[in-house]
This record gives sequence, C-alpha cells and structure tokens, in this order.
Amino acid sequence: MLIKIRNSWDLSDNDVTSEAHYKSRRELLKTAGIVGLGTAINLLSPSFSFAQTLKNQLANEYDGRDLTDQQTQLKAILGYNNFYEFGTEKEDPSRNAHSLKPEPWTVSVDGQCENPGTYSVEDLIDFNKLEQRIYRMRCVEAWSMVIPWVGVSLSEVINKLKPKSNAKYIYFETLVDPEQMPGQHRSVIKWPYREGLRMDEAMHPLTLMAVGLYDQKLANQNGAPLRLVVPWKYGFKGVKSIVKISFVEQKPNTSWMRLAPHEYGFYANVNPNVAHPRWSQANERRIGDFGRRDTLMFNGYGEQVAHLYDGMNLKRNF
Ligand code: MTE
Repeated sequence: MLIKIRNSWDLSDNDVTSEAHYKSRRELLKTAGIVGLGTAINLLSPSFSFAQTLKNQLANEYDGRDLTDQQTQLKAILGYNNFYEFGTEKEDPSRNAHSLKPEPWTVSVDGQCENPGTYSVEDLIDFNKLEQRIYRMRCVEAWSMVIPWVGVSLSEVINKLKPKSNAKYIYFETLVDPEQMPGQHRSVIKWPYREGLRMDEAMHPLTLMAVGLYDQKLANQNGAPLRLVVPWKYGFKGVKSIVKISFVEQKPNTSWMRLAPHEYGFYANVNPNVAHPRWSQANERRIGDFGRRDTLMFNGYGEQVAHLYDGMNLKRNF
C-alpha cells in the first residue's frame, strides 16, 4: 500500500502451481460428477471434514462464483500476505501470525440495528450454509490471486442482526491486541484496521464473510477466524480477524482513507481506468503467472455489480 512495491512478487519456479493443481474446480467437479449439486455443509456434524467443502457445493447463482481461472497455489495464498498487524512485508504474516488466538472469538455488534450484542462466530455464521466461492482477488498493489473461499453471504449475517432503515453503511474492525498482533506495536496505520461498505454493497450476494479457503479453516495470516471478501473491490476492503460490526448512518472513515485520502477512496472498486496516484491500475501480475494481464473493470464482476454505481462518477468516487 504506502510501502514501496518491491519486485519480489515473482515466485520461484518451485512456487508455481503444478499442472494438476491448475485443473479448474469445474473440471474437478465434472470428473466427480457433482457439478451443480446443491448440498449444504455441516461443520458441526461429527463426520464433518472441512475437506468435504470441495465435494459439497451449493449451486452457483452467479457465474462469477464459478470461475474457471486457475486457482492460486495454497502455498502462495498462505505465504504472500498483507496483514500489517503482523508486519509490512509479504512474508511477515505467515512468519508472525502464530501468536493470534482465533478461538474462542467474539464479535461485538452495535449501531443502527435491532440485535446489537456480543456474538460468537457460531452465532453469526450458519455453518450449514457454508459455500465455496472461487473469486479473483485484485490487490491495489497490482497483483492478484484466485482464491477458493469458504463462507456465507454477508447478507445472511446481516439479516440476523436486523439493521434499521437508517443504517446506510456498515463497518468492520479488526482486533487490537499488540500481544497477539505484534505489528501493532508500530503505528503503521491507526489501529484498529477498519473497513466499510454501503449497505447495498454489503447485502449483495457476492459479498462474502469467509471462514475458510480451499479445504481448511482460515489460517491466521488470512484473517482467522472470519474476514470479509468483496471480489469487485481492491483487496484492502477485505478486513481480517473481525471483532466489531457497526451499522451507521454516515459514511465511515476507513483506515486507508484516514491515512492517505488522495490515494485510497471509500469505494475502492477495481477500475483499470483510474490510476493510483503512484502507479497504473491498467494491468496486474497474477501470482503464479509469468507476465501480466489486463485488469478487468470491477475485477470482472461488472455484470453483477455495475448497477450499484449507476450515475456515479467513478473517477471522483474511487
Ligand atoms: N486486514 C487487516 N486487518 N489488516 C491488513 O493489513 N490488508 C488488506 C486486507 N485485509 C489487511 C487486511 C489487504 S491490503 C489485502 S490485499 C488483503 O487483506 C490480503 O488478504 P490475504 O493476505 O489473505 O491475501
């Protein structure tokens, strides 16, 4: 983000996804004869294995959920991260995040809703409704990944909390605890990390509250035990290790806006036509690929989400 981009994005040959791994999810499922099966996953049943998420898919409502792009190798998703609470280098989170204790975990909910209070993860997430969703993730630093997340639509969580009609925005905050998050000993950004959405963005079916990826619970460095994923926005909207949800009337001040408002806007929609003041957003480096590819408007999810921004000047509302 504000840190100078290093040229070490390129993974070594060993890190590049193997041919077998490159098989798309659809191909794998076709082979298994289960494309389109709508089976829920029961994490609480004694026979549950997180690995079953690959075999028990909910039917896809949106094409974007069922990407045939090659998925990024697990090793890269676990080892190349932005999570400043554990340091600002890409390798820092995987090195340092062992000190985070994601269980037990509570999330406080306040503001304009009928059901404020303190919730456990199990209170908020209906584990019977977990889905795997393969989404592109485009970081504002112009690299990208394709990640098979496991989670539920954020709208499912929000509906439990019953926002009032004057709730126009929602924001999320990450834990503040320098003992568990040693990077917080430094004021790189103003802690807690905070990100927000307009309510219609939050209620959009693509917006995911993730608790896992591939066939695993979220690793600490990816934001255990729960994090946001908004696939048409730059990756920094995906706030990790959430401990607070707040429903508000006014647009919230988010971490990156507070730090550099001319560089990071509230909307943060992926937009190849609007350059970051210090670099182009026209193309990106997909981790594991050689060469670069064009960045897609709304990260390729325009068909599903462009209507949310009808009539808005996307250069001004970046
Ligand atoms: N959440 C918190 N709390 N702290 C962070 O530094 N970094 C963001 C986002 N969520 C960040 C965060 C950025 S810039 C990106 S690109 C994504 O997390 C990276 O997610 P990943 O490391 O799981 O790929």
